[in-house]
Amino acid sequence: MDRLQICGGKPLKGEVFISGAKNAALPELCAALLTDEPLVLDNCPKLNDVNTMETLLSQMGVGVERNAPHRVTLDGASIAWPLAPYELVKTMRASILTLGPLLARCGRARVSMPGGCAIGLRPIDQHIKALAQMGAEIDLKHGYIAAQSQRLTGADITFNMPTVTGTENVMMAATLAKGVTTLHNAAREPEIVDLANLLTAMGARIQGAGESLIVIEGVERLHGATHRVMPDRIESGTFLAAAAATRGSIILRRTDAKALAPVLEVMRKIGLDIKVSNDDQGDQIALSHRGNYDAFHLVTAPHPGFPTDMQAQMMALAIAADGISTITETIFESRMMHVQELVRLGASIEVDGNTARVTGGTPLSGATVMATDLRASASLVIAALMAEGVTTIDRIYHLDRGYEAMEAKLSALGAEVLRIE
Ligand code: EPZ
Repeated sequence: MDRLQICGGKPLKGEVFISGAKNAALPELCAALLTDEPLVLDNCPKLNDVNTMETLLSQMGVGVERNAPHRVTLDGASIAWPLAPYELVKTMRASILTLGPLLARCGRARVSMPGGCAIGLRPIDQHIKALAQMGAEIDLKHGYIAAQSQRLTGADITFNMPTVTGTENVMMAATLAKGVTTLHNAAREPEIVDLANLLTAMGARIQGAGESLIVIEGVERLHGATHRVMPDRIESGTFLAAAAATRGSIILRRTDAKALAPVLEVMRKIGLDIKVSNDDQGDQIALSHRGNYDAFHLVTAPHPGFPTDMQAQMMALAIAADGISTITETIFESRMMHVQELVRLGASIEVDGNTARVTGGTPLSGATVMATDLRASASLVIAALMAEGVTTIDRIYHLDRGYEAMEAKLSALGAEVLRIE
């Protein structure tokens, strides 16, 4: 099991190119199931979760070819095996995103229930309820979702809460349904807009992606397309938090400032100097060192609120803020696993229910800590970069699920990072 060894205390300096967004690439790979023509994704990040999705799709019969480091061509002409087995689903719950497309294209699907995960129960009842409303017959037995439908029909669907993959799953299914599907209380994340842009390029008829009311008019078939995956806003925010926490100055290249707006707003409010510009490759975000920054009070919320996927990273940033910060997690019921590990590095954090209270200014000292989930591991990396001495982070496979070449990018910014096989 790989570990990362980080010698902290050095400010990050320089430029970093942001990779394509994991949470856009995952649903967009599944969109290949909706057409018998080739789908090409550019700027597709090389991540473990993306590799798992590519393996899952190829097991179904989709041709998957990486003809360049960040370009993948998918060929969904013949789907022999509409099955998502437990062995793969248990390693990546986003496999559930194959359910809607398989139902729409093949009329049947057998997808393992994802089960729980470190950050919460993460039920998928909203996905099931919506697809059943569209006419799917769904049986939950032996840990699997067995679904079938002659042809899905458009429906008027209201989600109990804005669910990102729920909105994506049903939006994809609705593109080939008979009639119009209306989604109320849909999630508004930028990745949903990026997926809708791809589906529209494939011939889908979608209005309102990015808003809480989305209307999809089903069509008979979708054709192939070439699409560039949007930049990863969470990777962008993670590097900004790491630069601020180490009193560094960095420039993000090929990023997307608009998608990161809720995070930039908070960072500017606490006194971080952030400038946005644009070049022919996309947005640049420059964060420059300006000494200290204020404590803050953060509450995570569905987009356009503050993203839960940046909560753990902001907790690491709060450790070096002036004063006492509070961070409240409202999306997942146990997304505070990083707290105890940060405390092992010397942080002063108390948790009361779903609110963490961080006393800034306590010096961190290197120690051995354990990653528990993807974004928790990112917060441990940031804390390790701040800590005096050497930190070893165990179970770094969590990090590899969602960050491409993290240690290479950090080393290029002046950090002392070593991966130990
Ligand atoms: C997506 O997960 C992201 N994953 C998560 O990113 C992200 O944290 C989350 O959205 C919230 O922004 C991908 O896009 C692959 P939800 P998802 O359905 O879709 C409840 C990362 O770090 N809910 O929006 O699974 C659920 O329990 C990952 O990259 C139901 O109750 O999240 C949660 O409390 C972690 N029933 C809330 O809704 C359902 O059927 C939001 O979950 C569906 C969701």
